[in-house]
Amino acid sequence: MSDDKVTPRGLSHDRIETNNGLMIFLILLVVAIGGLVEIVPLFFQKSTTEPIAGLQPYTALQLMGRDIYQREGCYNCHSQMIRPLRAEVLRYGHYSVAGEFVYDHPFQWGSKRTGPDLHRVGGKYSDEWHRIHLNNPRDVVPESNMPSYPWLSEAQVDPSDVAPHMKALRTVGVPYTDAQIEQGAEEVKGKSEQDALIAYLQVLGRSLK
Ligand code: HEC
Repeated sequence: MSDDKVTPRGLSHDRIETNNGLMIFLILLVVAIGGLVEIVPLFFQKSTTEPIAGLQPYTALQLMGRDIYQREGCYNCHSQMIRPLRAEVLRYGHYSVAGEFVYDHPFQWGSKRTGPDLHRVGGKYSDEWHRIHLNNPRDVVPESNMPSYPWLSEAQVDPSDVAPHMKALRTVGVPYTDAQIEQGAEEVKGKSEQDALIAYLQVLGRSLK
């Protein structure tokens, strides 16, 4: 019976499945081709690289609010990416489309939902609701385990942060005009970090008609 043993030839299954190095090499090759075919076209498709109609860059105040969102780590508990699944669309609204995030550097899609997705939270509540909620979430949602952020209402936004930030964003393609950059500091003067954060939350997800 030992005569039945066949020597694996060429790229036969036997050869591949009994040779670790060859198997690893071929897996990497297949993944690389698959990656190129799936990922590269996204850099050239209009639907992923161009802003949707009516998308506006963040105003100075919203932009500062976005910085606070990142600084406070809100993205650790909140995603901003509604998937095209029935349950998500029923709960949060229209699923997210790539053209909504063209001016987001970096995007805030997140990957963890301890709290609800925030991509379409803009306009869902009043500014006053957000104020109470940020100072102490349990005042409006008794069972909430979201942390309180009471210091945001006392800290002021620093107007000198605005222009450099807007200029930096312009270099990566956000169409800020010189006038917008000049007026930015004036727009945030005297505003608290809470004002800025709320301005940001209130604009989220509202440009898709
Ligand atoms: C430890 C996790 C955690 C962190 C960090 C966190 N949240 Fe939340 N958030 C929650 C949970 C849980 C809820 C749901 C209960 C509630 O409404 O308070 C929530 C709810 C919300 C809601 C209401 C959403 C809706 O549709 O009802 C907003 C707005 C919100 N969070 C904003 C923020 C902002 C802004 C920050 C950062 C300053 C933040 N959250 C940080 C857990 C978190």
